[in-house]
Amino acid sequence: MRHLLNPLDFSVEEISQLLDLASDIEHHLPKYAHVCDGKKIATLFYEPSTRTRLSFESAMLSLGGSVLGFSSADSSSAAKGESVADTIRMISCYADICAMRHPKEGAPLVAANHSSIPVINAGDGGHQHPTQTLTDLMTIRSLLGRLNGMTVGLCGDLKFGRTVHSLINALVRYPDIRFILISPPELRVPEYIREDVLKAKNIEFKEADNLDEAMPELDILYMTRVQRERFFNEEDYIRLKDCYILDKAKMKLARETMFVLHPLPRVNEISVEVDSDPRAAYFRQVQYGVYVRMALIMTLLEVEKPC
Ligand code: NCD
Repeated sequence: MRHLLNPLDFSVEEISQLLDLASDIEHHLPKYAHVCDGKKIATLFYEPSTRTRLSFESAMLSLGGSVLGFSSADSSSAAKGESVADTIRMISCYADICAMRHPKEGAPLVAANHSSIPVINAGDGGHQHPTQTLTDLMTIRSLLGRLNGMTVGLCGDLKFGRTVHSLINALVRYPDIRFILISPPELRVPEYIREDVLKAKNIEFKEADNLDEAMPELDILYMTRVQRERFFNEEDYIRLKDCYILDKAKMKLARETMFVLHPLPRVNEISVEVDSDPRAAYFRQVQYGVYVRMALIMTLLEVEKPC
């Protein structure tokens, strides 16, 4: 039995197969309508979510399966003090697979260690968010036709943004990837990413605080929200929350072939006037998130691809 806790749990080859399956799902959706008949996914969300939880549920429903779960810690027995280990033992009796989001880093790993069903990490604290990364990889591959040879600008809260940490981990496995890490000094990527991932693997990167200067160099601009819930004090959040706002004027500095991604939710960091720019890909990214989760559920449940 396999889990997905970290984007590196799948090899590059396995990710390529998963994205091929997701792309087949995109183009032949009706063919997949019953491949998970009778299967259930439990969505265990101890932290707020709209897209991730609903996209897992939509994915399972589109495969013919059903869904159960909770959308906040308050509405589960966690509020009575139940441990993640006990909860997952019980969920294993109710469902065939589960997706868990938790504010504590490592909680999905604890769950996996006590589970008899596949566990998917749907975001653990400021740590990892592997299914967002699969979504991002599918979006980039669909837009650019490749996952190698590109300059990726990551902008905003690179310290607490788990989507950024997972995406860097995943992209460094492809050839000729260069990063521009754009953030205020207080929100730079954590040292373990800079030292153990980027430097250790000899990846070309620079850290910058000016978005305008970076724009002309980018193939992909990945915008992120300043993660209010992970700040220790509100004053710092207020000072930093609007550090970057992508607007039409900034988009003029970018290549015609650059695409803008964002895991969403957006707060202020992308002005709504950018939404109509053909290079704004963040709503297409949401749609890819459903196909990729359908492919992931099938893969972890070892469901055969229909002919
Ligand atoms: C992200 C997350 O939860 O980390 N959202 C998502 O799952 N699409 C990004 C965020 O909350 O800023």
